[in-house]
Amino acid sequence: MEIRVYPDPVLRRGGQTVTEFGPELERTAAEMMAAMYEEGGVGLAAPQVGIEQKLLVLNPTGSKDDRSGELVLLNPKITRKKGREYDEEGCLSFPGIQAEVERWIDITITYTDLQGQEQTMKAEGWLARIIQHELDHLEGVLFVDRLTPVDKLRVKSQLAELEDRYKSQAPRARA
Ligand code: CO
Repeated sequence: MEIRVYPDPVLRRGGQTVTEFGPELERTAAEMMAAMYEEGGVGLAAPQVGIEQKLLVLNPTGSKDDRSGELVLLNPKITRKKGREYDEEGCLSFPGIQAEVERWIDITITYTDLQGQEQTMKAEGWLARIIQHELDHLEGVLFVDRLTPVDKLRVKSQLAELEDRYKSQAPRARA
């Protein structure tokens, strides 16, 4: 599994609702979790590996030695939200870029689990932040879209660098 890096257009396409459950989906989720650990992330959304589905995986510890916090969320939706705060975020699709993003502090979400069962859960703080960041990916929204004007200016040259790198690699990727 290869992590797609900005400005790969797949990152803007988001994901389709997952309607089929079974071993293939489980395998995809497991591979995404492995890729997330490999890259040192705490969350990964399917579009980031070129799969246009509403599927995300996360583990707030980011450690494969502590899997108790692992979550696989399908078709997640925020149903309640409260409070706003800024904190620093990065993204595996934006290597080297970190910036503060404003998110909801407390959220309630509904989602479908790998068995196809509807679930509801509450999350706050760091976990809520990860969910909101990854959920954005499923809609084609990227964390750089949510930066303050000052930070948008600050990361402009880094984004331009990623764009240049992508242009020089794209022909090979397409071949
Ligand atoms: Co991300």
